[in-house]
Amino acid sequence: EKGGWSSFMAKEISEEPEAVAKTLLGRAVDGAVHLDDLDPIRERLLTVNRIIIIACGTAAYAGILGKYAIEQWSRLPVEVELAHEFRYRDPVLDDHTLVVSISQSGETMDTLMAVKYAREQGAQVLSICNTQGATIPRESDAVIYTHAGPEVAVASTKAFVAQGTALFLLGLHLATLRGTLSSEAIADLVDDLKAIPEKIERVLETGDRIKTLAGWMADTRSVLFLGRHVGYPIALEGALKLKELAYIHAEGFAAGELKHGPIALIEPGQIVFVIVPSPRDPRSLHPKVVSNIQEIRARGARVIAIAEEGDAAVLPFADEVLHIPLASPLFEPLLAVVPLHIFGMELAAAKGLDVDQPRNLAKSVTVE
Ligand code: M6R
Repeated sequence: EKGGWSSFMAKEISEEPEAVAKTLLGRAVDGAVHLDDLDPIRERLLTVNRIIIIACGTAAYAGILGKYAIEQWSRLPVEVELAHEFRYRDPVLDDHTLVVSISQSGETMDTLMAVKYAREQGAQVLSICNTQGATIPRESDAVIYTHAGPEVAVASTKAFVAQGTALFLLGLHLATLRGTLSSEAIADLVDDLKAIPEKIERVLETGDRIKTLAGWMADTRSVLFLGRHVGYPIALEGALKLKELAYIHAEGFAAGELKHGPIALIEPGQIVFVIVPSPRDPRSLHPKVVSNIQEIRARGARVIAIAEEGDAAVLPFADEVLHIPLASPLFEPLLAVVPLHIFGMELAAAKGLDVDQPRNLAKSVTVE
């Protein structure tokens, strides 16, 4: 079943390009988005004035990515909340609220309970799910299935990039519906999204270099991840993978938060991954993150930067630079996450751990 791969996780990372391509299939055509999946809530979507995304773990990080894209394109306010927190805090919901649940398995109890609760309160629930006919889609008003194929390894990888893709499609659909982006802008974004699978292939080719890096770090006790804007959920995802797979203390931060506390953790030898925003990003976050790199480097940390091809500004300050191909800044996280998935897997393998079945974890968490 592993088809010659050393683990399901290795196989599933290799399927990340396909997971994106299949999720786009038939939905991104001729420069426009076609989501027939939304037909059951088509009328209600017109009156939505707010979105709440609910999910757990890696799916919640995909949700943060979705928030940034949906807000930017559709101008609808979006919140992201962990499903187990949402359910128990008496959230304000009404029939103009669209709740979007995200779950690979479609069986996560925390997410299922939150979906049921949201519907009881009168919200519309749209679910993004990778498993046909699972409980969460059955309990929802509409479903966008991700077509990543079955994910067996406990660590979620190809499902994450497929969830990001589905959220991008939803954002572009809402922007079309609300007229908040021109059809030219949508066509450009659709074309760029369709180019992502081939770009992920190119990132996968750097796998050996990441394996070597992981091999050097097998004794590391703590790793930090910094990212900003859409790089922030990628930092969280990189850290979760190290905890879950390699049992290493790892933390992801929003880079802007560094000076509000975490910089005190930086000491000689500390390994810090930095997801560097595109120098082309209109928000001009690139120089801010480069100066974060200088600050942590000055305190003796070892910096591994994930940066766009041709980004020369990070080279003098980083110990290692992993390059990713150019894409629209909102889509770059689908590329930047790939080296971190490989890194988590390779570090676990270097420590001799079971990559597919980490201790204490189940693939789907069917208890609250
Ligand atoms: O099946 P789901 O997407 O609902 O699962 C959610 C989380 O349990 C899951 O993403 C978990 O965080 C992964 N093991 C992370 O790699």
